[in-house]
Amino acid sequence: MEIKEQVSLTQFNSFGLSVNAPLFVEVTTSLALQEVLKDPRFENALILGGGSNVLLLQDLSRPVIKISIPGIRISEENEQTAIVSAGAGVVWHDLVMWCIVNNLGGIENLSLIPGLVGAAPIQNIGAYGVELSDVFYNAIGIGRKTGDSKIFEAEDCNFGYRDSIFKNELKDEYVITTLRLSLTKVNHQLHLDYGGITQTLDAMGVITPTLDDVARAVIRIRRAKLPDPSTLGNAGSFFTNPVVLKTKAAQMASLYPDMPSYSIDDQFTKIPAGWLIEQTGFKGKTFGNVGMHNKQALVLVNYGNATGAELWEHAQRVMDAVMSKFDIELAPEVNLIN
Ligand code: FAD
Ligand code: EPU
Repeated sequence: MEIKEQVSLTQFNSFGLSVNAPLFVEVTTSLALQEVLKDPRFENALILGGGSNVLLLQDLSRPVIKISIPGIRISEENEQTAIVSAGAGVVWHDLVMWCIVNNLGGIENLSLIPGLVGAAPIQNIGAYGVELSDVFYNAIGIGRKTGDSKIFEAEDCNFGYRDSIFKNELKDEYVITTLRLSLTKVNHQLHLDYGGITQTLDAMGVITPTLDDVARAVIRIRRAKLPDPSTLGNAGSFFTNPVVLKTKAAQMASLYPDMPSYSIDDQFTKIPAGWLIEQTGFKGKTFGNVGMHNKQALVLVNYGNATGAELWEHAQRVMDAVMSKFDIELAPEVNLIN
């Protein structure tokens, strides 16, 4: 295990920001992680997966522990279900593809989400009508202060929309080392109702979709809308979609009859932040090196040599505009790192 000094994180964050870390170590086993956590120099280290949901605001004053624990296997199974166990350092999309090749159903709608397996439970990743919590079996975490390992069952995690206990009460307390998912071996329950999947399958000429077909449809939709971080720095949706009281949503719907919205329960409605941002005129408009993407207004983009501060300044500009036009507060989905 090599501890490096003054390491550039440009390759390790999907905004492509040129930021340094004073100390950097990559761990490939839980044991190595436990060793590093004992080292006082790494006490308040940033835990980094694929860096696709962080905005590094400036050169870091704290070290980085990069999680690269590999491995995918079936750890238990019966005739209907398999429990798939994956190391926190596995690329999420590789896990999705592995499951499809092995005819295991449940995460095909989560194809092409960037990042690594260990970060998936942190914000309960979701897309196209499926969330990690739908297939979560359990996860192993190592306590940053104690070095002890703990199993988190689904009911321990308080999963919600882009939310979990790891972003709240247990923020920065545990490092996830293993994730286990409960997937179907037979009678796969396909989720086709959301976000143009059915239309895309039709356009692909698919009549009886397989897991692979659904994954290919999701990939096709995502590629058409979302910029690829390897060519255009971004971190996906920069904000979460705001959840507002139904009275507020009704008020807005009377002013903007075309406004898309999703009912959550009898009290709350979710309004797409991308729509709100588009209405404020920021979609596709650039401000120096930054802007909201021209195909998806929710995606903050680094068009060149932006700094973290510039990106955050623009995010705040957009938040202010949405607040003054709609009296709705946008909250960053991306983790701001000082
Ligand atoms: P990182 O950015 O490295 O880390 C994110 C946070 O998790 C940080 O706070 C970090 O400290 C913490 N963390 C990372 N690994 C661990 C660990 N092992 N233990 C404890 N804490 C950890 N997200 C969605 O939900 N749905 C989408 O559809 C989606 N689409 C995206 C599209 C694009 C183009 C991009 C760039 C991003 C998208 N995202 C989406 C966001 C991102 O892919 C997810 O949040 C992903 O889970 C981040 O993984 P990561 O490994 O890159 O995490
Ligand atoms: N919209 C606009 N203008 C835009 C963008 C969107 O009017 O510029 C409208 C669309 O027309 C649509 C609605 O907003 O009616 C929703 O748009 P979309 O289906 O693109 O999804 P989203 O709500 O913007 C969410 C997630 C994505 C996820 C997709 C698909 C959040 C914050 N984002 O985006 O997740 O991939 O749904 O399920 O919930 C991420 O978290 O990083 C991410 C990309």
